[in-house]
Amino acid sequence: MYILGINAYHGDAAAAIIKDGRLLAAVEEERFNRVKHCAGFPSESVRYCLKTAGIGIEDVEHIGISRDPSAHLHKKVMFAAGRAAKQAAGGISQAAGGRGSRQEAITTVEDGSANGKGEGKSGGGGKGIFSQIKDRLNNAAKVRDLKDDLANALDSPKSSLRAQFHNVEHHRAHLASSFFISPFERAALLSIDGFGDFISTMWAKGDGNSIEILGQVEYPHSTGIVYTATTQFLGFPYYGDEGKIMGLAPYGQPRYIEEFRDIIRTEARGQFRLNLDYFRHHAEGVDMTWDQGSPVIGSIYSEAFAHTFGPAHEPGSPVGERERDIAASLQLRLEEVGFHVLNHLHEETGLTDLGLSGGVAYNSVMNGKILLNTPFRRVFIQPAAGDSGTALGVCYQIYNGTLKQTRNEVMLGAYTGPEFTGEEIQAELEASALDFETYDDRSVTRRAAQDIADGLVVGWFQGRMEFGPRALGNRSIVVDPRRADMKEILNQRIKKREPFRPFAPSILEERTADYFEQDHPAPTMLMVYQVREERRAEIPAVTHVDGSGRLQTVSRELNDRYYQLISDFNDLTGVPVVLNTSFNENEPVVCTPRHAIDCFLKTKMDVLYVGNHAVRRKSEA
Ligand SMILES: [Fe+2]
Repeated sequence: MYILGINAYHGDAAAAIIKDGRLLAAVEEERFNRVKHCAGFPSESVRYCLKTAGIGIEDVEHIGISRDPSAHLHKKVMFAAGRAAKQAAGGISQAAGGRGSRQEAITTVEDGSANGKGEGKSGGGGKGIFSQIKDRLNNAAKVRDLKDDLANALDSPKSSLRAQFHNVEHHRAHLASSFFISPFERAALLSIDGFGDFISTMWAKGDGNSIEILGQVEYPHSTGIVYTATTQFLGFPYYGDEGKIMGLAPYGQPRYIEEFRDIIRTEARGQFRLNLDYFRHHAEGVDMTWDQGSPVIGSIYSEAFAHTFGPAHEPGSPVGERERDIAASLQLRLEEVGFHVLNHLHEETGLTDLGLSGGVAYNSVMNGKILLNTPFRRVFIQPAAGDSGTALGVCYQIYNGTLKQTRNEVMLGAYTGPEFTGEEIQAELEASALDFETYDDRSVTRRAAQDIADGLVVGWFQGRMEFGPRALGNRSIVVDPRRADMKEILNQRIKKREPFRPFAPSILEERTADYFEQDHPAPTMLMVYQVREERRAEIPAVTHVDGSGRLQTVSRELNDRYYQLISDFNDLTGVPVVLNTSFNENEPVVCTPRHAIDCFLKTKMDVLYVGNHAVRRKSEA
């Protein structure tokens, strides 16, 4: 039985396919169309999934999408009614609707989600509750257009779509992605993000092939919204910039923590609420457009931010002490609220295994402190914890949750994307007229390890591409972590990132405790631990200013060739760690050998390994 899962009409569009419960493929659309966080419909991802499965769309029995416009309908209507009354009383007038086909919006009332496909900001003075309900129905019709988009993407008649279609509520898709493919028979589950289907946070208990929802936090209250609003206020306006602020936080002092405790307040039973004076989304909706393919989110913070912290930071201008301290305070408050919810979840379930998902689960600094601040002892975070991973969650919610099939898949790695044969790689290299050397399987990692130890910047392109934002040794740039200047070299020659952002270590799994203060496995690079004090000088290029590192633990079982590379580096240097950054230059991570060659040619990488072949940069004499 084939099941196809889709995340569409929203950032990080993606598709996944499973056969009888086994995961065959999962991939993000940005890797094909080269548009970061691309929204819209994941046409190429769907085609890749079907090709990998070796089937046509007519062979797929179930197709699901990770949104359900009918979910929480009464809450959406009540919210719309309340807001309409407030606006009428206040005489607020606001135009609604009337946008071009590629300029769409997060419709905070229509579906209360960061994944709406509405036609403009909802609500507004001229719009009554009935027309808003009508908007909702129109929106539901758009989801039905999924069949049209799918048929168009595949250039097939609609009649070829014989599958049963499912709308899976956004957070149920997140929760499913963090449980049904986890190693846990039973687990506490938390999905935490900006918004999806009117909910920002949902927690549950997973047991066998069922997930029981225990609690939720509803629109407009959201940790993700606080993080995004503050990120915007600090002058980082792009979709996905939150990670930069997480990197900035350790440079500051949390001297604004009381202000952030007022901005987001915890309540009994795991709940929290925003001080809405600081935000605009609850009153005005939030625009999300993707004219250029990448999502752009309208401003969420209100004037109250400036009253409390002073004027908003100008994008591109140098970051100062105030910005660092705001970032530090925001990060600390996120952690406090996260642990508040998690401690309640533990109390409610009595369980010590945790499945974590949602965009906020990309906050690896918070994740790394879970074992220190809650009773949870084991944590599973699927590599695409954010919205692309809901494509995967949809598949398993249908297979295990709805169809009650027995669980038979554990996803510990992230290697579910395209791969290329030796012949295909060789043909690309020859087409580029590049000189290359070819090594046997045993020599290729030894030679690359020597290059890394010699201080070269090494492109490392192997096997199947990773799912989710992290390069985990198959589409990576790898350098020597012992050299303090490597961070600067990488930024000058390739990455051009803000100087405050750290680079990450990959470490042989069994050596984790020798270098880090915690040793719970982190195979998807979504945990930050403290580097042991006595080791920090040994691996300065991957030790952040506060002594932390966002590590990837590498086992032979999950990635044999990458394990061998680090092991060979260890043989040469006595250090079982390399610096691993994604293979890209301010673009989506490379997918094909062609992308890798192009990136090699336009940057100042020293050597490119593609499969068993290596291309060296000619010295610029
Ligand atoms: Fe989400």
